Amino acid sequence: MIRVAATGDLHVGPDSASAVGEQLRAVGDKADLLLIAGDLTKSGLTGEASALASQLRGIGVQVVAVLGNHDHHSDHPNEIADLLRDAGVAVLEGEGVRVDTPNGTVGVAGVKGFGGGFAGASGAEFGEPEMKAFIRHTKERSEALESALAELETDVRIALMHYAPIRETLQGEPAEIFPFLGSYLLAEAVDRAGADLAVHGHAHRGTEHGVTPGGVNVRNVAQTVIRQAYAVYAFERPSRDRESASVGSYPISEPTT
Ligand SMILES: [Fe+2]
Ligand SMILES: [Fe+2]
Repeated sequence: MIRVAATGDLHVGPDSASAVGEQLRAVGDKADLLLIAGDLTKSGLTGEASALASQLRGIGVQVVAVLGNHDHHSDHPNEIADLLRDAGVAVLEGEGVRVDTPNGTVGVAGVKGFGGGFAGASGAEFGEPEMKAFIRHTKERSEALESALAELETDVRIALMHYAPIRETLQGEPAEIFPFLGSYLLAEAVDRAGADLAVHGHAHRGTEHGVTPGGVNVRNVAQTVIRQAYAVYAFERPSRDRESASVGSYPISEPTT
């Protein structure tokens, strides 16, 4: 069994880093790796990232993360990613990483993603330059996710993002802001490349469980949604059969923490 811990929206500030570190300290007893689905910091300050990095250093499992919109807020996303990488965190943006566990290999492809909305209520690359840039950014990040996923040759493949790929895991948020919470383009990327699980955050008032149109399980792991430090998803039947992987046929057990 491969056990994947996942959390998101830690929003760490210097005053809360030690509490978050305490929450995550024993993750190695319950999981083989830890995913963090963005918004690691409160305001995107390098001091916040340093405080979190010091807590994640030597945590005992590979930590894999993407940045969220909060991590971009102070215009230092690269510095934040570097601080975390120095602590051993694999910070992904349009790329993948392979993690070897005692029971198989896990590939994680990650992007921040972006908004735009969902079928029947989505933005288009049309009109003002600002609107075109908005949707173009989502398209580019979705394409990057698809490429990174397609390159993974591991027993289990996971798509990690901050923004949501489906509207189902946004339930609980006002429908008016769905276009700022995610995009169907991310789900299309996941379905085309195939994955066993798609993980996101960002929607603090959303819902944990969902599934893409192509049948890939989606989990919103924002801490306020999962109401615990992290959720653990266990993959019972890792296989190298990429065809079965693409239809989400690996049953994952529900959180055990
Ligand atoms: Fe957040
Ligand atoms: Fe966010």
